[in-house]
Amino acid sequence: MSLFLFMLLVSILNPVVSHKSCDFPAVFNLGDSNSDTGGYASAFTPPTSPYGDTYFHMPARRFSDGRLTVDFIAEAFGLPFINAYLDSVGTNFSHGINFATAASTIRLPISVIPNGVFSPFYLGFQYSQFEQFKVRSQMIRKQGGLLAGLMPKEEYFSKALYTFDIGQNDLAEGFFSNLTIQEVNASIPDIINKFSANIKNIYNLGARFFWVHNTGPIGCLPYVLIAFASAEKDPAGCLKPYNEVAQYFNLKLQESIAQLRNEFPSAAFTYVDIYSVKYSLFAEPQKHGFELPLVTCCGYGGEYNYSAAVLCGGTITVNGTEIFVGSCDNPSVRVVWDGIHFTEAANKFIFDQISTGSFSDPAVPLKQACQS
Ligand SMILES: *[C@@H]1O[C@H](CO)[C@@H](O)[C@H](O)[C@H]1NC(C)=O
Ligand SMILES: *[C@@H]1O[C@H](CO)[C@@H](O)[C@H](O)[C@H]1NC(C)=O
Ligand SMILES: *[C@@H]1O[C@H](CO)[C@@H](O)[C@H](O)[C@H]1NC(C)=O
Ligand SMILES: *[C@@H]1O[C@H](CO)[C@@H](O)[C@H](O)[C@H]1NC(C)=O
Ligand SMILES: *[C@@H]1O[C@H](CO)[C@@H](O)[C@H](O)[C@H]1NC(C)=O
Repeated sequence: MSLFLFMLLVSILNPVVSHKSCDFPAVFNLGDSNSDTGGYASAFTPPTSPYGDTYFHMPARRFSDGRLTVDFIAEAFGLPFINAYLDSVGTNFSHGINFATAASTIRLPISVIPNGVFSPFYLGFQYSQFEQFKVRSQMIRKQGGLLAGLMPKEEYFSKALYTFDIGQNDLAEGFFSNLTIQEVNASIPDIINKFSANIKNIYNLGARFFWVHNTGPIGCLPYVLIAFASAEKDPAGCLKPYNEVAQYFNLKLQESIAQLRNEFPSAAFTYVDIYSVKYSLFAEPQKHGFELPLVTCCGYGGEYNYSAAVLCGGTITVNGTEIFVGSCDNPSVRVVWDGIHFTEAANKFIFDQISTGSFSDPAVPLKQACQS
């Protein structure tokens, strides 16, 4: 039998040979509020009711009414939800850890909480926390006892999936500090270089499997829609120039990931086009079972049911009456939860789409993201 025929037979008889699942034992995440499972809440102040209502039936330190895409990723691997590094109370990191905090940027932000608006835990600090965690978690494992069981095994650092969702706040910082569209656009190569440098550092600590979300259509989110109301709109009602900047970010991100793939052939880098999935929720909501995509479910006032003056969970006094900003009646058919973040229903839809691999470069499903 010729080698060709043999190979053909092997591939017919055993078509799954090159497509087996990766069995990631842990998830390590870095990012912003899109994937924060408690970092911001631990460091600063937790979101209050009705955050968390849909799934957790109480505030769950996440900026949504329920689970985030990173929660669905952990679930898909049969792992527990990953806890925040900054959560100092009885926290179990045995199957992963989350360095994301809401309001985090890739670059060092100028305006920092509490006097400013962005998280001090920008990507460079998240990396530094990861570096410390890697060393200290293994010291604790060696000491044994109760605490050892809260830490990941050493081999998990090379076997885990490393997930990333960050960049939206770098664009927001530019827009809200009154830079022009062109100025924010021009800052993107530097932002991406910083991102890439962090990925290399993480690779150098032994990470091999990278799953990188691109940035979403920021021009469809009410917090941007109300702030820049005079900008040109597209047929979905989103702000065209703002989304174009996000698209340029994504182009440069995809290029930088292609470079990383060349530079580190033993690693697997998956670029995930979450932008397109999110955008489809704004452009064709009915098709996917959603309605009123630009209207905030938990917000107050105006066309987008959103005002920066009073946010989800807050209260406002109107004509002498106190109004609580709570949830809309049916968040399960809504896209935008609080004017900035997505509902659990949207996050589930997004996860279901991106996990197939149809929106990935290379086009491998989530469970095969260890294959380069
Ligand atoms: C930590 O979580 C894992 C996975 O849920 C569990 O198997 C383990 O028992 C937990 N460790 C401790 C010390 O509670
Ligand atoms: C941006 O411009 C607006 C309107 O001119 C102003 O109120 C705001 O303070 C400016 N923001 C910054 C960060 O400069
Ligand atoms: C951003 O910059 C790139 C490269 O110069 C350019 O191709 C693109 O049109 C710019 N986008 C916007 C919205 O200015
Ligand atoms: C508050 O009172 C003013 C004046 O009576 C009225 O025009 C406005 O509609 C009221 N606003 C609300 C939210 O009821
Ligand atoms: C707007 O937000 C309020 C909470 O302040 C909520 O009760 C209402 O249902 C929301 N409106 C829509 C159309 O979602």
